[in-house]
Amino acid sequence: MRSTQTMPEALPERLQDGLRVAVVGTGYVGMGTAVMLAYLGHDVVGVDIDERKVEMLGRGELPIYEPGLDALLVASQPRLRWTSDYASAIPDADVIFICVGTPPLPGGQPNLRYVADAAQSVARHLNGKLQVVVNKSTVPVGTGDWVSRLLEEHAVGYHTNRYAVVSNPEFLREGTALHDSLYPDRIVLGSGHAEGIARLAQLYAPLLEQSFAPPLCAPRPAGYTRPELVTTSLSSAEMIKYAANAFLALKISFANEIAGLCEHVDADIAEVTHGIGFDRRIGHRFLAAGAGWGGSCFGKDTSALISTGSEYGYDMPILDAAVRVNRRQRHLVITKLQRHLHRLQGKRVAVLGLAFKPNTDDLRDAPAHDCIERLTALGAKVVAHDPVALPAARREWTHLQYEEADSVEAALRGADAVLVMTEWDEYRDLDWETALRGMRNRLVIDTRNVLRRWPEHSTVEQIGRRVRLAGGVPA
Ligand code: UDX
Repeated sequence: MRSTQTMPEALPERLQDGLRVAVVGTGYVGMGTAVMLAYLGHDVVGVDIDERKVEMLGRGELPIYEPGLDALLVASQPRLRWTSDYASAIPDADVIFICVGTPPLPGGQPNLRYVADAAQSVARHLNGKLQVVVNKSTVPVGTGDWVSRLLEEHAVGYHTNRYAVVSNPEFLREGTALHDSLYPDRIVLGSGHAEGIARLAQLYAPLLEQSFAPPLCAPRPAGYTRPELVTTSLSSAEMIKYAANAFLALKISFANEIAGLCEHVDADIAEVTHGIGFDRRIGHRFLAAGAGWGGSCFGKDTSALISTGSEYGYDMPILDAAVRVNRRQRHLVITKLQRHLHRLQGKRVAVLGLAFKPNTDDLRDAPAHDCIERLTALGAKVVAHDPVALPAARREWTHLQYEEADSVEAALRGADAVLVMTEWDEYRDLDWETALRGMRNRLVIDTRNVLRRWPEHSTVEQIGRRVRLAGGVPA
């Protein structure tokens, strides 16, 4: 994995009242949580059934691309341990995080098998003193109660009831995971167990008081003070996570819907969202129109909420519509291309950006995936470039057909069109004028509105804006 930082990080002192923490599941959230808590001064052991991952992490190597986290992992190693053995991690832990994946089942409900496996394995190794089991995986409302039941059923007899279950949802974004974890807007703790909440407040004290020395890779933002501590019931905390993600997904779908209308009435979506964002009730963030949302959370969480609703016979028409708008947005990319090229058979199309967003190599539910699939189905030849995600795509997108390009110039050479699918800085800062010269036909479908100037003799389609036709004439 490409390293993101050259300067080594210094590890702050161990906290005097530092806790012993076990983190079960070393995916995105678990790995970040483990590294951050060790950095803040606790002793942490990460548990994963994937031996390969455990070995990599033990060597101080990060299996994913996440800016700064690699350097912090190396710095925090003295207080970090990685294992695949529950027996060596759980009995000593004051706090046990469950951070395993909850991938969607075909019907939209999250698959809770890994949560159940983790809870049962944890239960078998509880030590009979009060231990706090924290659910950080995104799980349907009511799962915390179910986890309590699993612990009860699988704990060794006399240990029963010597644990507290707390829901502590995670709000970090990939690509800015460290920043989001160290400087959150709020920390949500949901439980009916006062001691459980108190122990987690102790665990998070360095964050709540912002008493830690910021790492070089994630300086404390100017003006940031402290996060809010929100304590709720178990179910409310679980609902907060879903409602937050669903609302953000709605915001983006709303911007995309308005963007489509802007194209009809000759308005500009960037000007419109800039204008509405100053209303503090609305705000500017999460209103960027584009190729639609992707990633591991929004699709999964919106369909999980809709499916929870249907279990109770309760319709969620607003969320249904947000999902529909997102699907339409992905098709729009091809529609825009066809508007200019018509038949795509045999055409060479450069796709810039595979990751679902910049600063990550995560390909989950990436709009570029659907786009490449559709392009090849229509007979086009796809040449793909991404500053970071090409190796991940080589592993995970074996079912797709495309050529890899090791530079933007190579991708554009001889192409009939270029699609910008991810807003990497590299594409934003590109000298487009020069880059487009190598193309057979200078057509840019910029689904992330990264182009700031109009290259000469080129046609540029963006989202929610006027089309610029070759010759500099706005359509
Ligand atoms: C999201 C939530 O932000 C985070 O709080 C939660 O914990 C996990 O899910 P993440 O999936 O890492 O985080 O990505 P995020 O930055 O939220 O972007 C999600 C998708 O929305 C991306 O595909 C992105 O391109 C898209 N997006 C985002 C837009 O299209 N427009 C925007 O204005 C913002």
